[in-house]
Amino acid sequence: MTSATIDGARLTRWLNARKMTPSMLASRTSLELAEVSALLEGEAGDLDSGTAQQLCEALDIKPSQLQPSRERVASVLVCSSQDMLATRRAVWRGGIHFYNYYSLPAPTGHVAPVILDILCPQDRVPTLNNGHLEPAITVNLGPGSIHGRWGEALDPLTWQVLDANHTDDELWWIVGASYTEPSFCPHSYSLVSSQPARIISYTAPSGIAELIDACDHWPDGAFHDFADRADERSAATLALAEALARRGHDSASAAAMSGISQDTIETALSDVAPLGPESARALARALGLDHRLLLAPEHPEDALGRSVLSVKESKLTVRRFRSYVVASLAAAANLPDIVGLFMRVQTPTAAGEDLDLQEQGETHYLVTSGRLTLQWTDDSGDHVAEDLTTDDAAWVGPYVPHRFSGDGALVKLGHGGALSAGTLIELSNTFQPAATLQRARRDHSGWGFDEEPSS
Ligand SMILES: [Fe+2]
Repeated sequence: MTSATIDGARLTRWLNARKMTPSMLASRTSLELAEVSALLEGEAGDLDSGTAQQLCEALDIKPSQLQPSRERVASVLVCSSQDMLATRRAVWRGGIHFYNYYSLPAPTGHVAPVILDILCPQDRVPTLNNGHLEPAITVNLGPGSIHGRWGEALDPLTWQVLDANHTDDELWWIVGASYTEPSFCPHSYSLVSSQPARIISYTAPSGIAELIDACDHWPDGAFHDFADRADERSAATLALAEALARRGHDSASAAAMSGISQDTIETALSDVAPLGPESARALARALGLDHRLLLAPEHPEDALGRSVLSVKESKLTVRRFRSYVVASLAAAANLPDIVGLFMRVQTPTAAGEDLDLQEQGETHYLVTSGRLTLQWTDDSGDHVAEDLTTDDAAWVGPYVPHRFSGDGALVKLGHGGALSAGTLIELSNTFQPAATLQRARRDHSGWGFDEEPSS
């Protein structure tokens, strides 16, 4: 008989959501009350699939909604260059061996950057791909410069050089140009000379992936109406129009309620001029809405939605940061979850030094040169160290204290992950966020009820 694993905290949450007590659940399944209680109190318990199905029917949920959401993940994963190179797979495009792909480490189910050997020679125009939902950040690792192609017709915007660092100065660790790319931006690369080149590319999770998943299940008409409305106006105007209608307001009643002039609201609704911060605040307060949704977002840097940083531009950003010297990679206000950095490490390795890095999202590191030591605090609170050299890679989990020492350089790429920009807005709106997080994590408490009196 097959079995199903039930997550105790998730079962508790569903029982709370359905306003059902453990004894009600027991009476609707073949489980004894003590068995229900054990499931609720335990981290995870196994049931035969028939009983698990009864549980799901009683709670009107799908089996996947009671499964443990994710395996516990390690604090840090390290991958040697040999293991990374062993992930090589050749990909053909346009009738030629186009790329070799290599994977960086990440926990199961997480997205990690890939390294690509650029093989399309300089005398060919590289065949475009189709683009992908996931926005990306890409860095030329050199040693050669590459051509990037981002459109069918070749023009100065769609056909550009992503240069490598060909200088021999002290900023050699800024290895190449970088750029961020939006969803479904077709892209392809070729060499610029006979010099080989590699890129590291992080196709990070899309912030609208859950919306897309939901839209997959919407009726066609509902989805197309939504897409049409999104097409007709900016996201801020769409948010304002939908928020008014959903709350039973037109511009006149919203103006009366908020003290903002009807004219200002009408102008915003017609997409002519977005609300200013003060008007957005006043209107949002009156409507019960997050005012940040009503503000116009930053426009992407170029007409293709990309943001590009050349080697020369990266060099202008060099600064000291804690025990490192760093330089920026391309960044875009409209892709706030994607971050990257060149890091130069030049500090002796010593025990007991401060672990001076601890980041909000998961972080991927690739050693581009030299010999480094990565130190971190593992799951048990122990101090751990591992030596790394060129092409070794590491994944570091959110808020894991760590530090690099030695003499070498890194490329760092990161993503907001569980603390994406959208979630940070939710967290900023959470009443007593620290207490809420502490109470909610692995919470097995019911919502508060007395068991039925025995008759
Ligand atoms: Fe890509």
